Amino acid sequence: MADYKRPTVSIVGAGNVGEHVANLIAIKELANIKLLDLPKKAEDRVFEVVKGKALDMKQMASAIGVDVEIEGYTVTADGQGYEPLKDSDIVIITAGFPRKPGMSRDDLLSANVNIIRTVSERIALYAPNAVVIVVSNPVDVLTYATLKITKFPKNKVMGMAGVLDTARFKTFISKELKVSVSNINCFVVGGHGDEMVPLISASNVGGIPLTKLFSKEKLEEIIKRTKFGGGEIVNLMGTSAYHAPGASVAEMVETVLKDKKQIMPCSVYVDGEDARFYEAYDVCVGLPVKVGAHGWEEILKVELSEEERAMWHSSVKSVKEGIERIKELKLI
Ligand code: LAC
Repeated sequence: MADYKRPTVSIVGAGNVGEHVANLIAIKELANIKLLDLPKKAEDRVFEVVKGKALDMKQMASAIGVDVEIEGYTVTADGQGYEPLKDSDIVIITAGFPRKPGMSRDDLLSANVNIIRTVSERIALYAPNAVVIVVSNPVDVLTYATLKITKFPKNKVMGMAGVLDTARFKTFISKELKVSVSNINCFVVGGHGDEMVPLISASNVGGIPLTKLFSKEKLEEIIKRTKFGGGEIVNLMGTSAYHAPGASVAEMVETVLKDKKQIMPCSVYVDGEDARFYEAYDVCVGLPVKVGAHGWEEILKVELSEEERAMWHSSVKSVKEGIERIKELKLI
């Protein structure tokens, strides 16, 4: 055991989502945690909130008998203070503006891409071997931007969306059927927007296809609620969700750190044979992938029904439009 070294997960952006990811990683004792965030100005004072959060969480760890290290670091908007990223096995990017009511994820695009640029350049500099998980929205476009800016191998960069959208889909199915979520096998693929694609043809509960368990109308209602699952919460809370997004990221982190080879839908760069199969070129978009120690390892080729294929194309098209926009604006 002399050589045991606990892995390190860094989280850039200690807002609601970042904080909840950190909390779960600590509770599960998965890794040492570094939290990085900007200082907060209030009235005439500058608060290093991130350091306070880290200390509070470290004391939480002591309260429950967990030995992970948790440190907070204040960084600047122009990219200073990122040295602690060194030695990170995983870097999670949650930095950026969250959605407010009435905003689409795309409205966040240009503001957040500039933040991603600074963060990605620092990751490439200080943590060149890390697996990067992008959470900031619009997540598919920002995953693409992160990949291009870090110039990391494609397998090292993935966006979190499908795990969350699938969790929402499972929630509504399980509530309706009063059955354990663990008996539900389903995937939501495509972009993390209103055009995401729940894969009905590949979904079942205890082996029984969804189409046999629900009327067409009921299934459509569940799909609609899933697609607008994020928006429903924004409208209720006035800001983005964070419990389920945080838990979804923590699932991905655990899968990487334990090299579980779990199949989970993540936003990944599609090229080569996969691009031909899914007719999606030069784009990051949600697909079922096998996740292990080095990031995502392979894209699963799932046959889509005709209807799903149409939805898929339209979802890919809207992600591509976002990518084209940041290219036109010379943001990447
Ligand atoms: C949501 C945010 C994370 O869907 O996009 O809640």
